[in-house]
Amino acid sequence: MQKLGQNRIELDLSSYERRLARPLAMKLPEFQRNERLIHILFASQFSRNLLEHLWTVATKIRAIAKTKDGALFLQDLLPHKRAMLYFTQASTRTFLSFTAACQILGMKCSEIRDPSVSSEYKGESPLDSMRMFSSYSDIIIMRSVIPNFAEACAYLMNDLGAFHQRSVPVVNAGSGADEHPTQALLDIHTIMKAMSFEGTNEYGRRVPTLLNLRSRYPMLKRGLNGKVYGFCGDIGRGRTVRSLAQMLALYQDVTMYFISPNDPKLRVPPDVVSRLEDSGVRALTASSLDECIDQLDVLYMTRIQHEHDSRPEELRSQTTTTGCTLTTDLLSKMKEYAAVLHPFPRNEEIPSDIDGDPRALYFDQAVNGMWARAALLAYLFDVDSIVSAHYEKVFNEFHDYNRGAI
Ligand code: NCD
Repeated sequence: MQKLGQNRIELDLSSYERRLARPLAMKLPEFQRNERLIHILFASQFSRNLLEHLWTVATKIRAIAKTKDGALFLQDLLPHKRAMLYFTQASTRTFLSFTAACQILGMKCSEIRDPSVSSEYKGESPLDSMRMFSSYSDIIIMRSVIPNFAEACAYLMNDLGAFHQRSVPVVNAGSGADEHPTQALLDIHTIMKAMSFEGTNEYGRRVPTLLNLRSRYPMLKRGLNGKVYGFCGDIGRGRTVRSLAQMLALYQDVTMYFISPNDPKLRVPPDVVSRLEDSGVRALTASSLDECIDQLDVLYMTRIQHEHDSRPEELRSQTTTTGCTLTTDLLSKMKEYAAVLHPFPRNEEIPSDIDGDPRALYFDQAVNGMWARAALLAYLFDVDSIVSAHYEKVFNEFHDYNRGAI
């Protein structure tokens, strides 16, 4: 392992090179068993059915958790399971929401966030560390700056399993600049809720219904099909954008705008565009929000990821974010029902005076992350059907004592 300065570490993954280099379609079957995912590594592992299933489970867990009895029922689902949170790259929301999700289901958590206080400081390879974690825990949830590291760990676990040794699921909670599938999962859930036009949000705040909106937008439909999505900021290195765009490509008649400052590092990579186009997405580019903001149903803002540069300070002063900042003036041009998302942390691309606008959903998004991750853990440990059965029992039981009597 070699340290290359802030946020840039290289790890020798040569023993996995051949497997890492294969086309995605060849890899995917290795991360599932009997149609059920065992490792969560890429956004492309999720089907529309699975996204919708996890949305249903998340909604049910959220409803059950509202009472003390419900919370105790949930905590009794996985008290015999332990999670290892190995987060060697900075994190607030992903780390805390995964911890909270484990706690909701009664799991115990251990963590390593700073490798300088683990045996990695003494030269232990992170792959050896991973094997140790699998000895003490039932799942490894990991975030790393090292590209492909989570995938290599999944191969390590599969190899251990093949030799009848302890092997546990691996969940990618952000790897390099490539993928962040669980962020995309919670983003999809947030968009599903926003595009359901139900009249209220999670907290009872009033939002327009489809019926109200139809007078101004006659073609508007519920759901994620036929929508225009805008991704703005550091598209080149934003792993959340890559994963979310991939999941949205599962829907029909989708248009995506990629809006980034005029810097080759920040622009949407050509391989991303061609993959999206192969899935039927209309992928368009723009260099300022003004060019397309009035057409967007969903705007996904991101910050410039300076930490991926070897000389961040210098680049910071050179990068011009003009045209990629959401001002109140630009917001006023957006559709009445549009949703503004951001994975956070934010820098200056969304000023805080926008936070009170009903279209600003980034704080709801952070809350949704906890429930989406609880649903994912319930699915991985195969207790999602127990959640559903409990929900049906508690919320769908009629108490009409007249039924049958008269
Ligand atoms: C993102 C990440 O880490 O990729 N944040 C997150 O997980 N909520 C986005 C970012 O760091 O800009």
